Amino acid sequence: MAKLLLCHCEILHSVEKEYACDLYVARVGLAAKLTDLGFLKGMIAECIVSTYNIDGKPSAAPMGVIMEDEQHLIIHLFNSSTTCSNIKANRCAIINLTSNIEVFYKITFKEANIDGQLPQGWFEKAKTVNAPKLRLADATIDVLVSDLAPIGTLKTRATCDVELVQAILKFPQVHCRAMAATLEAIIHATRVRAFVNEEGEQKQVSKLLELIDNCNNVVNRVAPNSSYSLVMADLMKRINSWRRKTED
Ligand SMILES: Cc1cc2nc3c(=O)[nH]c(=O)nc-3n(C[C@H](O)[C@H](O)[C@H](O)COP(=O)(O)O)c2cc1C
Repeated sequence: MAKLLLCHCEILHSVEKEYACDLYVARVGLAAKLTDLGFLKGMIAECIVSTYNIDGKPSAAPMGVIMEDEQHLIIHLFNSSTTCSNIKANRCAIINLTSNIEVFYKITFKEANIDGQLPQGWFEKAKTVNAPKLRLADATIDVLVSDLAPIGTLKTRATCDVELVQAILKFPQVHCRAMAATLEAIIHATRVRAFVNEEGEQKQVSKLLELIDNCNNVVNRVAPNSSYSLVMADLMKRINSWRRKTED
């Protein structure tokens, strides 16, 4: 049975102090369930999965997470990923939810960080499982991996048993198209990066670049001078550098 806690962050609504949130968390013990966090049965939720590497360093990557029921989450892992190897070795992980697009971006593209690496200070050891949790997360789900089943030769289906759900208390948030558009652009960009050097994939790359351009236009129209437009500007620069590399 998962222990469910909702945490209250005293300074949550102070923008300048946003990055110090974790220091001020005070548990108030309100119950929260996966569905309270927006999970729906069968829906893919884009989360950050964090694990420990063999050398003990925290590792994190965006992954699609699917709720099977209130106690079980499913992740389809590419066997080639470090996350997959770590989960096979440690049989546990933290599923982190973050609405902070910059954090999501810098975990997706590690090279966007200073030194090109994830800041180790972003993580702390979780209490219930041997995995690092993202200190800036809006919510974390500690999971034990009870089953690993191959999906063909490339992927593994990990069944995750929910051990603990922790969430910060947050004001309701307005919908802004910039959030979805930036997330969509980040996902497309991971594919561009994967295919950009492959001759046979250039049609697909052009299509993806067009979609990213559309996302960029939306973001700059609905949220100029925002964290979204900053992420998009960095992403567009990064994509151009990949293009240049192929033209050299
Ligand atoms: C939004 C998003 C969702 C993703 N979902 C998955 C997924 O469900 N399974 C997977 O194996 N990779 C997924 N990826 C790709 C991994 O994040 C990517 O391969 C990453 O480099 C793996 O990092 P790692 O090798 O450190 O584990 C996703 C990427 C993004 C941007």
